[in-house]
Amino acid sequence: MLSNLDRLRSLRPAVSVGLLAADLLSLGTELVMLERAGIGVAHVDVMDGCFTPVMTVGPPFVKALKTPLLKDVHLMIREPLATLADYVAAGADIITVHQESCTHIHRVLQALGGMTHAVEPARGLVRGVALNPGTPLDVLDPLLPEMDMLLLLAVNPGWGGQTFIPGTFDRMARAKAMIAASGREIVLGVDGGVTKDNIAAIAAAGAELIVTGSAVFDGKAAAANAAYMLEAVGRV
Ligand code: DX5
Ligand code: ZN
Repeated sequence: MLSNLDRLRSLRPAVSVGLLAADLLSLGTELVMLERAGIGVAHVDVMDGCFTPVMTVGPPFVKALKTPLLKDVHLMIREPLATLADYVAAGADIITVHQESCTHIHRVLQALGGMTHAVEPARGLVRGVALNPGTPLDVLDPLLPEMDMLLLLAVNPGWGGQTFIPGTFDRMARAKAMIAASGREIVLGVDGGVTKDNIAAIAAAGAELIVTGSAVFDGKAAAANAAYMLEAVGRV
């Protein structure tokens, strides 16, 4: 069986669609639509109203997702150590924690490394570290041995539909160099402000997991938008 990390790598560049922008009362239908469009990853933005101004969803939402898509859980919550296990138990495949939200980020990553996938242990968990746009990349240095994915936020977390911060391209280039120098095969992700207009450039700059929410679920043509995103990154 392919591990979740190998599955994620096989999808590169993967398009991870932000579910909170969907019609949540029709989420089952939306998930089938994404699957049919060829999307491989579903992104869940968990916000606690402390680390981020607003509050969104928690473990029951993750658990309710009946889909073969990888469940990509982005934890924007203060001190996630206490609740990590709940997201794992809910069936998360990828769990990303913010460096800024943890007093002991290294311990959080170690704890994640000791956890087992809830549905099928052999699938394993992908451990991600997210960085806000204002956080220097240097903080990654001691974390690289304990992580599988880096998620660079291209907006300040809290809301969908914000504008991509152009300086993210420079951060991507520097992060790629750090990853290469580490000798580890860490997936480089980008989240926030991804649209039909910039997704091809983001993929060309080396993003291997690209999160896009409101540009897919625009209330008009979600299936066509999803297909467009996949084509733009060269997945079809
Ligand atoms: C930012 C979230 C993102 C964002 C994506 O707080 O982590 O996942 O909502 O939404 P769009 O694609 O609308 O920027
Ligand atoms: Zn996110």
